[in-house]
Amino acid sequence: YNEIKAALLGAGTVGGGVYKLIEKRKSEMPSKVQAELTITKVLVKNLNKKREGIPDEVLTDDWQEILDDPKISIVIELMGGIEPARTYILEALKAGKNVVTANKDLLAEHGKELMDAAEEYHKDLYFEAAVGGGIPIIRPLKECLAGNNITEVMGIVNGTTNYILTKMTQEGMDFGEALKQAQELGFAEADPTADVEGLDAGRKMAILASIAFHSRVTFDDVEIKGISDITARDIKYAGEFGYVLKLLGVARNVNDKIEVSVSPVMIPEQHPLAKVNDSFNAVFVHGDAVDDAMFQGRGAGEFPTASAVVGDVIATARNMQYDCCGRIGCSCYKNLPMQPVGD
Ligand code: NDP
Ligand code: HSE
Repeated sequence: YNEIKAALLGAGTVGGGVYKLIEKRKSEMPSKVQAELTITKVLVKNLNKKREGIPDEVLTDDWQEILDDPKISIVIELMGGIEPARTYILEALKAGKNVVTANKDLLAEHGKELMDAAEEYHKDLYFEAAVGGGIPIIRPLKECLAGNNITEVMGIVNGTTNYILTKMTQEGMDFGEALKQAQELGFAEADPTADVEGLDAGRKMAILASIAFHSRVTFDDVEIKGISDITARDIKYAGEFGYVLKLLGVARNVNDKIEVSVSPVMIPEQHPLAKVNDSFNAVFVHGDAVDDAMFQGRGAGEFPTASAVVGDVIATARNMQYDCCGRIGCSCYKNLPMQPVGD
């Protein structure tokens, strides 16, 4: 087998999980992508920080070292934020490297620029983990549901706020304590205001709406209200009337008018979304052919998110191996080998 080399940008909650998951799957990579897959460099800000499970010799704080290494063909961006993530991704694509990212902030603001660059340099840009953590939703929307006219995408797309609301509802926990736990569990953004004020959910809904409605929907197009004003009393009253409070994202395409919003909503206890608890996310999609489809799973955290990122890394590695451009329905998919059962 030959070897595919990748670099990680970021070794925090998600980057650490991705490194460990790729190590764990190491012996299976040849059967998955017909190659060894190795993370040869990990970019971090602070070289002195102790990193569990990541050897010191792969750590670097020098982006140029990664960019200039022609053997690194996949860059996995897990630093977060707009800059320098945007510049690094653009430079990586231009240098002929494929990119995987979980950075919804960046995609919601500069998604078109990044996708245009990937197109221009004929490279892959995958971002399954940017919405719904471990739930497969981006590629199902783009590919499996492509035969539909999608009119609605709705759901719980932020794990931190769902964790907070669940703890407040079920255990009477104080808002601040629940947020602290969500941070300790690695669900929250570096600045958790993005979670509690609904900004993170807004960015994810902009990404989902853009894909579902084949339109350019940006963060500024989303009407947003978060959960920072929600009190224990609101939750108690909702419960007394048979409702559960959830932070809900809704995107609708009505006669080519797209409306996207995020706000706390009282959901009847019997509704499937009312039963989505802790850091779980769930997304409903309504299409004219499929009718209603629901995707549910862990929406944040080290390994659920790593699951989506590593899936993307394997997809781009497969495309490279079989010289596939990664486009839906392209004939190069024919080159992918079948794996004999029991081999
Ligand atoms: P963390 O804050 O835990 O980790 C960020 C990592 O990036 C750290 O290792 C940090 O280095 C490194 N880093 C940040 N800026 C730079 C820089 N300028 N140069 C070099 N390294 C840098 O974030 P998460 O792992 O939680 O999130 C990463 C991305 O994944 C974000 O885009 C986030 O929105 C997204 N995401 C997160 C999920 C989650 O559950 N946490 C789920 C889905 C997506 P150092 O360690 O030295 O400080
Ligand atoms: N902070 C985000 C959340 C991480 O809580 O959902 C997953 O995108």
